[in-house]
Amino acid sequence: MADTPVLKFAGPVIDEATIAAVADVLRSGHVTSGPWVERFERELSTFCAGRHVRVLTSATAAVEVALQIAGIGPGDEVITCAQSFFTVLNMIVKVGATPVFVDCDLVTRNIDLGQVEARIGPRTRAIIPTHWPGSLADMERLYALARSRGLRVIEDAALVLGSQYQGRNVGAIGDLVTFSFHPNKNITSIEGGALVLDSAAEAQRVDALRFHGIVRLPDGTRDVAFPGGKFNLPDVNARIGVAQLARLPEFLARRRALVERYFARWRANPPCVLPPQPQSGDGQSWNMFSVLLPLPELTLTRKAFRDALMARGIATGVSYEALHLSTLGRRFGYHRGDLPNTEQIADATVTLPLTAAMTETDVDRVADACADLLAAHRR
Ligand SMILES: Cc1ncc(COP(=O)(O)O)c(C=O)c1O
Repeated sequence: MADTPVLKFAGPVIDEATIAAVADVLRSGHVTSGPWVERFERELSTFCAGRHVRVLTSATAAVEVALQIAGIGPGDEVITCAQSFFTVLNMIVKVGATPVFVDCDLVTRNIDLGQVEARIGPRTRAIIPTHWPGSLADMERLYALARSRGLRVIEDAALVLGSQYQGRNVGAIGDLVTFSFHPNKNITSIEGGALVLDSAAEAQRVDALRFHGIVRLPDGTRDVAFPGGKFNLPDVNARIGVAQLARLPEFLARRRALVERYFARWRANPPCVLPPQPQSGDGQSWNMFSVLLPLPELTLTRKAFRDALMARGIATGVSYEALHLSTLGRRFGYHRGDLPNTEQIADATVTLPLTAAMTETDVDRVADACADLLAAHRR
């Protein structure tokens, strides 16, 4: 393997034109938030059917600011799915609210809306669903529920920029929607994220919340009325984001072709549990390709499986650990056994390589290595 580079499980494609464009921004003298941030926001707004968009330094910042926009704080409960990234748990706790965890579907990994409904109580203020590559949360049911109970929704759409719900881009409909531009996502600004909103007044409040809480007074001085953060995206990053957004359709097509190759390789007898199969015209995007290992049928652990793939030059990830069983999550009274699907996924999931830089030959290499290893270690 010495001469074969390690196949990364996630990562960006950054072209030379973008690198040159960043150099231009660096030479321009305007490197922090400025015209490229405005342009990135305009283009994202067009992508989201004209809704208000504000870019921030990460999706994590976007979730924190969204919670602040929704007025959520101490004494409030936020219902969310325990099969998600730490951002969701951390930000709910950071604003002083209490996370209420529910389970997810074993195949789509999307939030169980029946459990959401059952957990709504007098202190519930919001629902945070995480959308999954290949299949979105049932938005019609989610928003009907939220509207009927007077709840805000903060969609964690970090993984699904470019997915469509009933023909419309995620972000073009709904309440507060957050995207990530981390290098592992569908497009990158290196670090970066966006918050999509309906109300101009709330968008203006984001302007303050992401920049020290500052508002400008008519006499040219400044004031702060609440403690804002420092989450403004620099132009250097926004320039990369603009270049990447232009390539989103191409990146998504490549990712989808690679996912179809995984499915084609494992059409009969898949060696592990696969995500929902792509259907023609389904509008889904594929940021990750995560499978479930049939651990009870195997003589090797997930760690041994991942180590064996790594020894063959194939890197993998774990998406995600169970939030309710983290040290922080357990502080809210959760135990193993509370959310069986989330826990089964957390124990058995492996994210296989999927980047827009990969070829079908790379997928074949991964599929062969997985099939060999799993066949060699069946009970
Ligand atoms: C589902 C999900 N939500 C939110 C985030 C946070 O994104 P960021 O790194 O931009 O803060 C991530 C990052 O991996 C994620 O996977």
